[in-house]
Amino acid sequence: MNADHARRHFRETFGAEPDVIASAPGRVNLIGEHLDYNGGQVLPMAIDRRIYVALKANPNAALSRVVSESQAVSAQFDIGGILRSSQWWDYVTGVCAAFARSAQLPQIEVSVTSDLPFGAGLSSSAALELSTCVSLAALVPDERALKDLALLSWDVENQFVGVAVGVMDQFASALCARGQALHIWCDTLDSELVAMKDAVLIFDTAVPRWLRTSQYNQRREECDEALRLLRQSNPELENLAAARPDEVRAAGLPRTLEKRALHVTEENLRVETVVASLKKSGSVTGETLYASHESLRAQYECSTPELDWFVDNARQIAGVRGARLTGAGWGGCAIAVGDFEALNDAKDDICASYESSFHRAPRVWLTHAEQGARVELNNL
Ligand code: GLA
Repeated sequence: MNADHARRHFRETFGAEPDVIASAPGRVNLIGEHLDYNGGQVLPMAIDRRIYVALKANPNAALSRVVSESQAVSAQFDIGGILRSSQWWDYVTGVCAAFARSAQLPQIEVSVTSDLPFGAGLSSSAALELSTCVSLAALVPDERALKDLALLSWDVENQFVGVAVGVMDQFASALCARGQALHIWCDTLDSELVAMKDAVLIFDTAVPRWLRTSQYNQRREECDEALRLLRQSNPELENLAAARPDEVRAAGLPRTLEKRALHVTEENLRVETVVASLKKSGSVTGETLYASHESLRAQYECSTPELDWFVDNARQIAGVRGARLTGAGWGGCAIAVGDFEALNDAKDDICASYESSFHRAPRVWLTHAEQGARVELNNL
């Protein structure tokens, strides 16, 4: 999958050359899980799977059109009056609606191609938002920085699509760089690239994620409540991740809220440990990744037996430094971080063994840290 493929698909669909092609990657989070909406630190990296958006202005048309190579249903819409449809193209049209607030947009033709799986927990929605943003910004043209396009996409996801997520995925898809992880402080929205030489094996447990949204929202409410209670004795506390673990232990919170708050406060310290290790050696500290997984399993309660199985089995592989679930949890993907060759040699066996234990076919992808959103072609 590349820009040539995106261009061919556009030509076959619309019978013309696109004006612009942009792409944006999926992401995995190395450490700092469920911290973005708690004002903490996160450390995602972009993967080598991307979404490509090709588009062309069509000023004389009455309507705009959007087509995806992987979706049976396509859409027509009026760029001057965009409504939410609860369909896959809301990520595209939501971004158009946000741009239309500050620029006069012509009707457009859009085609989407991708080798990033949808719905696996690898942030395909953020990648579709960012690839649309970057292609529209080139078309308008709009000089906004990638960070601002990430914030615009985050707003689209929360306000237009209507999914209450933290800021990590859009920042990762926009700002990551090849060979580097992205350290983000989600309270100030500052970020810094950190060199990383490890490879990452992404393991999709192929467990349906139907619980994810409701559980995710419940965890957010629990964290908000824990913060409210902690503020009774510490009114200055800016966010939950800023609390110290001993402060949480001393607060006498209800047991469930204490567990959630302990995960958040300890995980925030783990991000700093992994960043320090990357800065020193270019590699993650594996034990910190295992500790993160254990905390997500026991304290945050967002793991599954399949994710636990992967982490336990990855631990046995020579050359794997650490492993953990990544993303929201409740199904979806886990990662093993380590030497490329070792991960490559081990991946078929671990898939076969998973399939015989769980009777589900997993999917795996081996990647290094890749580049964030970019313009692939600009014919204007
Ligand atoms: C999902 C959300 C992110 C983040 C993670 C948990 O992937 O989209 O914003 O909250 O869960 O770290």
